[in-house]
Amino acid sequence: MQKIVNAVRGQNSVFSNKSYLDNLSVPKSIIGRENESKKLVNYLLSYEKGLVVPLISIYGRSGSGKSTIIQFVCKNLDLDFCYADLRKSKTVFGCVNLILSELGHPNLKNAQGINTAFSILEKLILEKFEKSNNSLFVLCLDEFDTLFYDKRGKPSDFIYKLLVLVEKLRKTSKHLCIITISNKILSEFDLDDRVVSRIGSSEIYFNSYSEDNVLKIIRNRAKKSFSKSINDEILKYCAKISSEEHGDARRAIDLLRTSGEIAGNDKKEISKQYVDDAIKQLQKNQLTTVINGGSFHFRLACAGLARLTFLSEEQWHSTSELYSQYQKILYKDRQKISYRRFSEMLVELVNSGIAVSQTISKGRQGYGSQFKLTVDPNLIGISCFPERWKGIVNAKAAHDAMQKSQSMSSHGKRNSSLSNLRNILDSNAEKNWNDYVRK
Ligand SMILES: Nc1ncnc2c1ncn2[C@@H]1O[C@H](COP(=O)(O)OP(=O)(O)OP(=O)(O)O)[C@@H](O)[C@H]1O
Ligand SMILES: [Mg+2]
Repeated sequence: MQKIVNAVRGQNSVFSNKSYLDNLSVPKSIIGRENESKKLVNYLLSYEKGLVVPLISIYGRSGSGKSTIIQFVCKNLDLDFCYADLRKSKTVFGCVNLILSELGHPNLKNAQGINTAFSILEKLILEKFEKSNNSLFVLCLDEFDTLFYDKRGKPSDFIYKLLVLVEKLRKTSKHLCIITISNKILSEFDLDDRVVSRIGSSEIYFNSYSEDNVLKIIRNRAKKSFSKSINDEILKYCAKISSEEHGDARRAIDLLRTSGEIAGNDKKEISKQYVDDAIKQLQKNQLTTVINGGSFHFRLACAGLARLTFLSEEQWHSTSELYSQYQKILYKDRQKISYRRFSEMLVELVNSGIAVSQTISKGRQGYGSQFKLTVDPNLIGISCFPERWKGIVNAKAAHDAMQKSQSMSSHGKRNSSLSNLRNILDSNAEKNWNDYVRK
């Protein structure tokens, strides 16, 4: 026990106050984002003149500060507001329950129905108005996309009911304003015409941070959270890495914290090497959380893409190639999912950031999608399917050594020989992944 405690204390020894590297709480101060904050304040404070837009859509890439800035503004305007992170629920009814519980109400049973839930929501909002004497209530629905995963739950109907509540309250000079937060623009959601015509077009786009913005954010955090000052070159390196695809402040903060923890473990100060180690650790953590947290077939789809990428020279793979790969590694005692469901799973893979997709023209056959891993297939194999992966790595190493000795250097030959290797592995004991994926 003492050993564990010492190790944890060692890990934390480089920090003076780790709370500044917490990605879950709203920070005390915000760097930049004046325009976006001003726009939001402008929309919200118009209630003082008797009219507020019913819905404000906030959208932008991950880590661009949407959740943080919205909560920061609402808190500092001293408004009555409810913030619900809808990712915590899986159905539309679950989302309503989540909002009610954020307002201090016990969970309802499904059988009580959505109309009862809405009557309770109305009652709770009226109580808030009475208590505070305010005439504006803001309902923030973060991770708004979640609602639309529940196809049977009629997400559009849910928004419509909220808008009806907005109109009802307005008649008593009380205002309800809904803020939706998402990575996607509102028009990408499947909303009924009756909803679209009521919500107007009040949007605030959060563009991705530049490398410089990210640097400012982590400089500010580093100063407050580490016991010794961190070399600016290290901070610049963290900012650069976190802005490679798009400026992501969350990634930069996580990277800085993890680098500090690894350095602390070694009783050293942060160096570039520790940042590199932290990148690998974070990638591994993210992969195992996403992949191991997914369904059995989702994990097989990931395994298939990693395997195909590792055993071929190509980076991009079509849906049909991946579906056939999935069927090869699915043992016969399991029912396969349909091609359509499999395609949806590939979209899930893209949404989780593990893969990217592109649409290509197939001439007369129309258009098709292709997918490419954003991470090293080896990392997926080692982190998520270690027992299965060992065999593949060994077979490929043996194959590469043989190729080298036969000095087959032309690209075409190498590619076809890799596909031969795949075929050999397909027809051998390597076939059955079920037991490994199930773990
Ligand atoms: N302008 C800023 N000033 C200070 N800290 C910031 C700023 N923008 C973002 N952050 C910090 O970066 C992290 C990520 O921000 P946030 O969670 O708000 O991003 P997001 O846009 O909601 O991302 P996602 O779409 O993934 O939910 C948080 O820890 C937040 O405190
Ligand atoms: Mg967010």
